[in-house]
Amino acid sequence: MPKLPATTFPLVLIIVLVASISSTTNAHNITHILAGHPEFSTFNHYLTTTHLADEINRRRTITVCAVDNAGMSDLLAKHFPLPILKNVLSLHVFADYFGAKKIHQISKGSTTVSTLFQATGEAAGTAGYVKITDAKGGKVGFSVADYEGDYGPFSATFVKSLDEVSYDIAVLQISNVLSSPEAEAPVGAPADMNVTNLMEKQGCKAFADLLQSSGAEETFTQNAAGGITVFCPSDEAINGFMKSYKNLTNDGKQTLLLYHGIPFYNSLGMLKSKNGALNTLATEGKNKFDLTVKTDGEDLVVSTEVNSATLTGTLIDQDPLAVFKIDKVLLPHQLFKSVPGAPAPKASKGSKSKDASADAPGPAGDDDSVPADATASDNGSVRVSGGGIWLMSVVLSLVLGYCMV
Ligand SMILES: *[C@@H]1O[C@H](CO)[C@@H](O)[C@H](O)[C@H]1NC(C)=O
Ligand SMILES: *[C@@H]1O[C@H](CO)[C@@H](O)[C@H](O)[C@H]1NC(C)=O
Ligand SMILES: *[C@@H]1O[C@H](CO)[C@@H](O)[C@H](O)[C@H]1NC(C)=O
Ligand SMILES: *[C@@H]1O[C@H](CO)[C@@H](O)[C@H](O)[C@H]1NC(C)=O
Repeated sequence: MPKLPATTFPLVLIIVLVASISSTTNAHNITHILAGHPEFSTFNHYLTTTHLADEINRRRTITVCAVDNAGMSDLLAKHFPLPILKNVLSLHVFADYFGAKKIHQISKGSTTVSTLFQATGEAAGTAGYVKITDAKGGKVGFSVADYEGDYGPFSATFVKSLDEVSYDIAVLQISNVLSSPEAEAPVGAPADMNVTNLMEKQGCKAFADLLQSSGAEETFTQNAAGGITVFCPSDEAINGFMKSYKNLTNDGKQTLLLYHGIPFYNSLGMLKSKNGALNTLATEGKNKFDLTVKTDGEDLVVSTEVNSATLTGTLIDQDPLAVFKIDKVLLPHQLFKSVPGAPAPKASKGSKSKDASADAPGPAGDDDSVPADATASDNGSVRVSGGGIWLMSVVLSLVLGYCMV
């Protein structure tokens, strides 16, 4: 059975803290809506800790089927780890608007809706769908696809509407928890996952090979237990970059690779609502080796001061591990003055030194040279072990540093 890392709770707190600092302009806030209904405090709490709240807030048209504290106690009695709780609760969020009026006017008596469990990609076949039935006598039933009748004709029934903003969000109370064997199935513990193996299987083999050959893999693996987000460049991106990579010193190589990791778990939804600077595993001191994420229409763009990459796929997005594929290698300005191969922006064309960082812009002084940065980051506070207190203090100091900038 997968076990929750002891670090999850403080991390969640910190993530919530960071998330609340970054400003977002969402049309709705499920946490706020449910805060007005104290009898749903448990459900509300778990929407936050599983990050489903972020996912709900970022979607336009959504229905949340809430279960009161008494109903939630049945689920909590099963002592599921957070990833399983997330799967079960994601069955309660429909990717469509179903207000009280609409569920009482379902044509032909029943309809099947796609849930956020479907959207995780973990639900096989029809396991991510819920059937809504407009039964006789004004009763409305909700059943998961493979429901076997343990609670009568439906898994749960409609109780009342808690809040509705027409065609935006509907928050309904249902009688009890919707669940299914698929949603409750053990989830591979991401902390135990071999990150490089995962990348190799999903089109990031070249990046995984570099992590292994450079030794940077160890830092990524150590961080995986406490929460990590990795942007792995596609094989094509790495292949086109190898000449420049080989030009880097060993420290420069390490730094470049660590620059592709964020020492926090960020779901795709969290990244999309962030629109700001993020520390990386290479970060040492304020503002050094930061990345910026922002949305561009439907796309998520990760930028350095030198170039930008677009997110092209999700290898895994499961607390505490998220790995996203990007279409370019991210170039920190401390190591690259401009995109390798492209004409240099300034008159420095002919004067590129062997160590690209030697003439890199930024705060002047030897401090900023590649070996200094790379060594410091290698031994510095960003190197996070699995230990709870240690991790917490490290992450906290990072967060504080981030906040004070
Ligand atoms: C949502 O509401 C909660 C509770 O009122 C609040 O703490 C949180 O900051 C809000 N989130 C956003 C993104 O506005
Ligand atoms: C991950 O798997 C690869 C290949 O199977 C292996 O070489 C590597 O040592 C593994 N890494 C860890 C941290 O177990
Ligand atoms: C690698 O370094 C050499 C020597 O400084 C330079 O001429 C070459 O342009 C560099 N190659 C790349 C791809 O950066
Ligand atoms: C960094 O740590 C390694 C071992 O983890 C050690 O060999 C090396 O001397 C350290 N470097 C500095 C500058 O402290």
